[in-house]
Amino acid sequence: MKKLTLLGNITPTEFLRNYWHKKPLLIRQAIPHFKAPLNQAELFCLAERDEVESRLVTHFNKKWYLQNGPFNQTHPLPATSKKEWTLLVQGVNLHHQEADALLRQFNFLPEARLDDLMISYASQGGGVGPHFDSYDVFLLQAQGRRRWQISAQQDLSLLDGLPLKILRNFRSEQEFILEPGDMLYLPPQYAHDGMALDECMTYSIGFRAPTFQELGEAFLQFMSDTIDLPGRYADADLKMTKHPAELSKAMLEKIAKELKKVEFTKEDITVFSGEYLSTPKHSVFFDLPKKPLSPAKFLLAAKKHGIHLALKSRMLYCSKTIFMNGESFEVDGVDSKLLVQFANTRALKGDSLALASMDMQETLCLWYEDGWIHLSDNHSS
Ligand code: SIN
Ligand code: CO
Repeated sequence: MKKLTLLGNITPTEFLRNYWHKKPLLIRQAIPHFKAPLNQAELFCLAERDEVESRLVTHFNKKWYLQNGPFNQTHPLPATSKKEWTLLVQGVNLHHQEADALLRQFNFLPEARLDDLMISYASQGGGVGPHFDSYDVFLLQAQGRRRWQISAQQDLSLLDGLPLKILRNFRSEQEFILEPGDMLYLPPQYAHDGMALDECMTYSIGFRAPTFQELGEAFLQFMSDTIDLPGRYADADLKMTKHPAELSKAMLEKIAKELKKVEFTKEDITVFSGEYLSTPKHSVFFDLPKKPLSPAKFLLAAKKHGIHLALKSRMLYCSKTIFMNGESFEVDGVDSKLLVQFANTRALKGDSLALASMDMQETLCLWYEDGWIHLSDNHSS
């Protein structure tokens, strides 16, 4: 397999075998001559927006403090000349084309596992303190220098009474200074502490790993929409009781017999997983086309210029089931080939589109109206 610069001199297969979930990897110049797609001013602008999740961590006078955004004139960020603060902006890929393109460089990993690109800005001395994350993370240095101290320590106990997770006993085992373009991979639960040596920006490529509890609760919710139990409780054989408050064995047996009819198939799990994993986060709102074209005009333009997924769209598939932003449907023949290609590359060329069935073309019109897809080239509306 082709070697990627992104992982230094190792292939994705070697990375997955030797490092993923196992041990840290420092990749010097993962992206040589890296130029951060977003500068500090653009990041601060994003943090002003209501629909963008942002947090401010300060460590003034040795006290940790956390505030949620947005940060604007009425709720300003500290001056950049003031030391020891960090702004964290989540989901930058949902709002910025180049940030999305950067995240897509990690597509040797399944999209269902990729979460988002978080960007942090830290003033000199800033950081979020020694902690661990529950997910794998790639920390790409985008601007300035950051000193990372890391540790495989088992003691992950946290300090009490703080607004953020800070390790009680962090003992650094290794230390690296990252410059722009350098990247550090950390497995889940690996203790780390990053301190800005200069004003700096760090890009975190984060992963998604739902807890089994979360999956179980969501699955039961999903099943509640799909179960079909006809009939109603009945007891033609009812006997007189001397204990009116008692739940009888007969009643419980009848209920158990009916409830045992609830079963889930492999297909239920596939549909649930695809819908669940393709559902955008609660905070996501799609941008509707400003002046939507009529379906006929949209299709004409789409066949000429092609289409692409909106940055906020999540599209997955499993065999012939397509999942788009939490919805699922079955497709056949050429539509299946086209939609699988669309999901993998997030774009479709106009001439491919011309092969789509009427059903698929109608669906594309609806997706366009909902802001889930856009026309390519200069047709951004
Ligand atoms: C940061 O960028 O300041 C925090 C990233 C992390 O430690 O996961
Ligand atoms: Co972290």
